[in-house]
Amino acid sequence: MKTQTISWRVDEYPVDALIQEGPATFRVSGRAYSDQRIFELEQERIFQKTWNFVAHESEVAKPGDFKTAHIGTQPVIVTRGQDMALSVLLNRCVHRGAVVCRERSGNTRAFVCPYHAWTYATDGRLTGITGRDDPNGYGPDFVQPQGMQRVARVENYRGFIFACMDPGVVPLEQYLAGGAAQLLERKLQQSPVGKIRLTGRPFVGTYEGNWKFQAENIVDGYHFMYTHKAFVNLQQKYGDSTGDFGVHKGDNAAKMRLLRARGNVLGSRFGHGINQKPAAEFEQLFEGPHSEYYNQLSEKYGRDELEWIAGVGAACIFPNFGLIHNQLRVWRPIGPAMTEVTVYPYALEGVSDEYNAGMLRSHERFYGPAGYGAVDDIEVFALNQQGLSATQNDWLILERGMHNEKPLENGEIEGLPSSETVHRAFWRSWRDLMTAQGRAVQ
Ligand code: FES
Ligand SMILES: [Fe+2]
Repeated sequence: MKTQTISWRVDEYPVDALIQEGPATFRVSGRAYSDQRIFELEQERIFQKTWNFVAHESEVAKPGDFKTAHIGTQPVIVTRGQDMALSVLLNRCVHRGAVVCRERSGNTRAFVCPYHAWTYATDGRLTGITGRDDPNGYGPDFVQPQGMQRVARVENYRGFIFACMDPGVVPLEQYLAGGAAQLLERKLQQSPVGKIRLTGRPFVGTYEGNWKFQAENIVDGYHFMYTHKAFVNLQQKYGDSTGDFGVHKGDNAAKMRLLRARGNVLGSRFGHGINQKPAAEFEQLFEGPHSEYYNQLSEKYGRDELEWIAGVGAACIFPNFGLIHNQLRVWRPIGPAMTEVTVYPYALEGVSDEYNAGMLRSHERFYGPAGYGAVDDIEVFALNQQGLSATQNDWLILERGMHNEKPLENGEIEGLPSSETVHRAFWRSWRDLMTAQGRAVQ
C-alpha cells in the first residue's frame, strides 16, 4: 500500500487525499477528525447538503408543539402549526440575530425573541415588532423581513422527521431505502401497533472528540467485548447471582460473545451503516415471561422476520442519527474535538408496562450517567482524539472484513458482524460529499 504522508497544509491537497482506498486498503487520515477547516467544510458540504434527523413525531404531536434541535452547528426549531403542518426554522432572530427559542421543547402560539421581543408565529412568520410605529421606531421605507428562515425540505418517514437545507436533496424515502429503512421498520415492528413514543426527557452529554467517532461507534461490531469488558463481567455477575438477566438481550458473557458472531453489517451508498443480529435462543422467547407478546408479533410478521425483529439492531443514519437498543441517538458537532450526544429512550406502544419498564431498566444498566457501558465509549472517543495529536504516522486502518464482504443487488455492501464495511460506507459517502464541488479545501 501507499505510505504517502500528506501535507499538514490543508490548502495544498484535495480532500480525497485524506482517504486511501485500494482493493485491500482503506485508511483515513487523522486530519479528517481534527482539522478545523475540514470541520467547517463538513458543515457546508455534509450537514447542509444531506438529511439530518431533527425530531420524532411524538415530540411535536399537537398543534403548537415545538422542540429545538440542530442541523450541524446551526440551531433550528421544529414546530407543529395550528394546522398540524411541520416547519423547521433557523432559530435566529431577523432583528439582531439572537436565538429566538431557548427551550428544549414545549407548546406555544408564538415565539418571542428574548432581546427586543419581536414576535413570530409558529410557522416562523414575523408577526410583531415592538415599538414599530413609535416616533423613534421604523420609518415608512423600512423593509420588514418575512420571518425566521425556513429550512428548505422537511419530511417525515414513519414518524422520524428529517430536514435538509438543500432543496435539491434526494427524497428522504430514497435516502433511507435498503438496510436503513428495514432496520427502522424492524425497530417499529417490536411494537404490535408499529409505534414508539419517547419517554421523559432525553439524556444530553458532551465528549471531547470528533462527531465521526460516535457515528462510527454506534455500528461498530468489533469493540464490544473489549471496550465493555467491565459491563460484560458485571452482567455475568448479576445474572449468576440473581438467575435473571432481565430483558437485556446480551445475557451472560459466553452468550454475548456468541451473539456478536451472528448477523451481518450493511453499508449503504448514502453512508448509512446497519449492524443487526437475529434473536439468540429464539424458540425460548415463546416460552418465557413475554410469550404472549412474541406470539402476537409472530402472528403479525411471521416467524422468520420476527427472528430479526426480536434480535439486536443498530443503525447509523448518515450523518447525525442513530438507533440502538430502545433509544434514538443524535450527535451534534460543536467543534472538531467537541460533540454533544442526546439519547432519547423510547417505549413501545401496545406492549405491557412491565415489558417497557424492563427495557428501560436494561437501558439504564448500560447507558446514561449511571450506566455501566456507554461511559466506556465516551472515554474511547476522547482517547481517539488525544491519540491523533501524534501525527507522524497519521493513518487509521478501516480494513477489517474487506476481503470477505459482498456487494448486494441494491448497491449496498454486506459484511460479517465485526466488519468495518459500515465505516467504509460512511467514509465513501463523506468523501463524495466533501469533494462534490471537485475542488481542494481552501
Ligand atoms: S434580536 Fe431579536 S428582537 Fe432584537
Ligand atoms: Fe460501545
